[in-house]
Amino acid sequence: PRSIWLSRHGESNFNLSGQIGGDADISDRGEAYARRLPELVKQSAGDRELTTARFLEYEKLEWKALDELDSGVCDGLTYAEIAEQYPEDFKQRDDDKYNYRYLGGESYRDVVIRLEPIIMELERSENILIVTHQAILRCIYAYFMNVPQERSPWMEVPLHTLIKLTPKAYSTIEERLKADI
Ligand code: G3H
Repeated sequence: PRSIWLSRHGESNFNLSGQIGGDADISDRGEAYARRLPELVKQSAGDRELTTARFLEYEKLEWKALDELDSGVCDGLTYAEIAEQYPEDFKQRDDDKYNYRYLGGESYRDVVIRLEPIIMELERSENILIVTHQAILRCIYAYFMNVPQERSPWMEVPLHTLIKLTPKAYSTIEERLKADI
């Protein structure tokens, strides 16, 4: 059976400073995770998959549709700064995190819509590992775990953890491997 592996990017300097969005560099721990990731994939892949795939150079694709939820004017701010500079928005997001759209940015609902073609691609794909941002992974995870998308903003997708999803006829099997870094 084919699987879909999900991983957040390694810890970034914005993760450390509590800033959202942005295009920050990866931290030293994030770098250590990047180095551990091939081993985690190997550990969680079955023998037959590995034997079959051993002559393949993994093909790497970049999909624009996997970009992080756009936090618009709040990009690069901490939650405390957002609460101070955009108190109305902060409250609105708290009241309805799924539908709240950042000023000049996106909502989770927007992200779910832009992910539709990606999800269709994943439904057809062979084994694949997706490395991207938390908000995006929450929506992909919710889809495969059959959780209503309205709950995706609260799905737990921790850093430095490889998630393996194996879709079956009526449910999806989930395994998690945490990197010891
Ligand atoms: O790391 C930031 C997340 O991707 C978005 O977090 O939607 O819970 O504010 P949030």
